[in-house]
Amino acid sequence: MKRGTSIVVAVLSVAAVAAFCFTTVTSADTPVSQPSFKPVSSVGALMGGQGMVFRRLQKVVTDRKAEHRYESIEVLSEVLAELSNVNQYNAKKDDYAGWARELRDEALALSKEAKKGGSADDRAMRKSLRTLKSTCNSCHDVYRKDD
Ligand code: HEC
Repeated sequence: MKRGTSIVVAVLSVAAVAAFCFTTVTSADTPVSQPSFKPVSSVGALMGGQGMVFRRLQKVVTDRKAEHRYESIEVLSEVLAELSNVNQYNAKKDDYAGWARELRDEALALSKEAKKGGSADDRAMRKSLRTLKSTCNSCHDVYRKDD
């Protein structure tokens, strides 16, 4: 290689490395611009979903022979937790937000138990169901008008 050519190659390599580093650093440093969160569904529809998920959860927790039981409990309880996580944003008062958070946290506890698979504690999972149900009722007693 001629001297001139090797200098050009060296300069280009340095430039390429610098460009690569610059891209990596800037993409790591630039956060995705997250919009502030706003639920898009009506409270009634969100609740219809919570109702469906909760009924399936009850079925699969109480049926020890259910297919893919632990995976189903894990997924359903996390979906319920997320719905309730969203429901916090429908709160106009602190007690409403508090019950939504309680429901979320209890559903996450249930999911955590289900993740143990065959060694999951059945009594603990059934107890979680009862706690969840009583949290539904606490909020409904105050905020669900048609009950
Ligand atoms: C933090 C408050 C809150 C919690 C917790 C809550 N709900 Fe509700 N729920 C509501 C409100 C408010 C309504 C009335 C919504 C409406 O009709 O606009 C409602 C209504 C409902 C409805 C009727 C929906 C319809 O068709 O109009 C169902 C079903 C329901 N909830 C299921 C549940 C279940 C199951 C749980 C517990 C796993 C639960 N909810 C927990 C606030 C709550």
